[in-house]
Amino acid sequence: MSRETLTVTDNRTGESFELAIENSSIRADDLTEPFATDDGPGLVVYDPGFLHTASCRSSITNINLRRSLLEHRGYLIEELAEQSTFLEVAYLLINGELPTAAEFEQWKADISTRKFVHENIKAFIQGFRYDAHPMTMLGATVGALASFYPDAGEITDGEARRLQILRLIGKMPTLATHAYRRGNGQPYVHPVDDLSYVGNILSMMFRMSELSYKVDPRVEKALDTLLIVHADHEQSAATTAVRAVGSNGTDPYAAVAAGVYALSGPNRGAADTDTLAMLREIGSPAKVPAFLETVKNEGRLMGFGHWVYRSPDPRAAIVRARLEELHEVTPPSPLVAIADELAKRAAEDEYFVSRGIYPNVDLYTGLTYQAIGIPESMFGVMFAIARSAGWIAQWLEMVLDPEQHTVRPRQIYVGPAERKYVPLTKR
Ligand code: CMC
Repeated sequence: MSRETLTVTDNRTGESFELAIENSSIRADDLTEPFATDDGPGLVVYDPGFLHTASCRSSITNINLRRSLLEHRGYLIEELAEQSTFLEVAYLLINGELPTAAEFEQWKADISTRKFVHENIKAFIQGFRYDAHPMTMLGATVGALASFYPDAGEITDGEARRLQILRLIGKMPTLATHAYRRGNGQPYVHPVDDLSYVGNILSMMFRMSELSYKVDPRVEKALDTLLIVHADHEQSAATTAVRAVGSNGTDPYAAVAAGVYALSGPNRGAADTDTLAMLREIGSPAKVPAFLETVKNEGRLMGFGHWVYRSPDPRAAIVRARLEELHEVTPPSPLVAIADELAKRAAEDEYFVSRGIYPNVDLYTGLTYQAIGIPESMFGVMFAIARSAGWIAQWLEMVLDPEQHTVRPRQIYVGPAERKYVPLTKR
């Protein structure tokens, strides 16, 4: 009978050890004691970027690579994007189950009453340089929220945690859109009760002198879909940053601020803007074949490929379908036909297929933001509003998980061996 174990022979000593395999993983801990030598405490796993290291057990998001599926708490992303709303998905991520009608009404009300920010936050935003990036302002203001709530650090208290979660979800759009208006030199727009969560994002960004701001339901649905597809993606770099900072027992605002700043790096934060730049550079669908040949020798096809997926990213098709609906409101950008042609040609090309390079969510994300009227400087900020739901869910799961403790990876030291200090005068 087969056993769920791995037998490892240490050829330095000739000894064999049997390590338990659970959920297709072995515990790094099991590599310490048996393999300890006079020189050190045992074996460590060298894994730059933690690409093959599971840092937690999580029941929030599952990426099924074989079937190219993305599920939140067991629900397919396609079904959530079609039938749910961002606020309901946020509830699902954080609480583990879909809400009943009564629970959802309460959830929306609890978040809605917390959508306002203290006047001092506005003064804080006003203090940034006129050209500060909205992502920088968002990270700083999210972190600053802790200073407004004395109970922010009471992370072992369930009620205090609940309040910070509601505050964070409620205030993210207000902070994000205030950062945008600051950059434009426009007055801040307050959130209102008669608009949805997403309707308020649009109103707080674009409202000028209208007495009542009307939101086109197709635009609202498109932005809601973008928030849903970006709500969580298990242990991405930014989510890992949230967990790592939170593992020190910080308040959730500090942890989420770390996530915002992690997102601002070009490897993640600029993928959608870089995709638009690439589409502009290609210029027309007729130039796609030549561009694909160039990419095989140098550069990367933006909006394609993924660290995890080696099959199509299920989110790409969802966003593409929503973009089509949006074309009833705003005429399609000529860049859409170029993106479609890239997807079609790459799917027929042995180079991309054999490497598992398919469209990722970013191929159509920027085009959809653009069709809504959201400028490129705000793409990352929109992503951060969406991902804050996942970050908070992951933070909460970590805080409640007795197996988790402060993140403290090991290193392989490759620097100089011990040597004597030489005084400055003798060097
Ligand atoms: N275009 C062309 N070739 C590629 C691409 C691409 N986008 N991605 C990977 N490759 C090739 C790469 O050149 C390599 O070829 P070879 O084996 O001949 O050397 C092979 O595929 C494997 O590359 P890799 O660097 O090991 O692959 P990776 O899994 O580390 O790369 C990635 C993942 C996302 C960094 C990469 O696909 C990429 O740079 N994509 C473009 C940027 C982008 O769209 N980023 C957004 C990702 S989705 C984010 C999210 O989930 O929210």
